[in-house]
Amino acid sequence: MPNHARLRRFLADMTSLVGGARQDQDEAAVIEVGGQLLAALVAHDDWLPEAMAGGASEGYLQHLLYCDPHERFSLVSFVWGPGALTPVHDHTVWGLIGMLRGAEVDQRYELDPASGQLCPGPTTTLTAGDVAALSPTLGDIHQVRNAFTDRTSISVHVYGGNIGSLARHRFDLATSTARTFISGYSNATMPNIWDRSRDGESAG
Ligand SMILES: [Fe+2]
Repeated sequence: MPNHARLRRFLADMTSLVGGARQDQDEAAVIEVGGQLLAALVAHDDWLPEAMAGGASEGYLQHLLYCDPHERFSLVSFVWGPGALTPVHDHTVWGLIGMLRGAEVDQRYELDPASGQLCPGPTTTLTAGDVAALSPTLGDIHQVRNAFTDRTSISVHVYGGNIGSLARHRFDLATSTARTFISGYSNATMPNIWDRSRDGESAG
């Protein structure tokens, strides 16, 4: 039995955070404190339900773990199959990436307003326990790949909106042109983390 209490604690703290600080006015505070909450969540690998941690024999999956009723934030698990690679894309809202298992490579891009060209920014390799932030203010264009070609990696992301339902952009690097997309989610059902009668049962 996964440690649902840990996930519930995170969701309660995130709900307080986005309710207490108007994210459109104080994005930096949400990112800072949200990053600390996410770091605490991914510091332990005992809470992600198994159904939300698999299924990507190739490519990647985005499982919705929770969406705030007011769509102020959503939480997803990204399952990266061996060698999985995203297109270059943006988010249009703030996002926090927490590495739970394995590792991923986060290649940032910046749009040069003068030329309209995408320019490569920093590359960071995230390993288990690491947290990275992005936002339209900080820069929110990147390409992500699994750092491993022989195993699955998993990262847990928090976004400042219902990320699977937002219109955002994929970029063609050769031409720096953007195409609108809506990612949706890979899962049709979400984990039941609210059955407290089962808390404390051992995994398996
Ligand atoms: Fe992304």
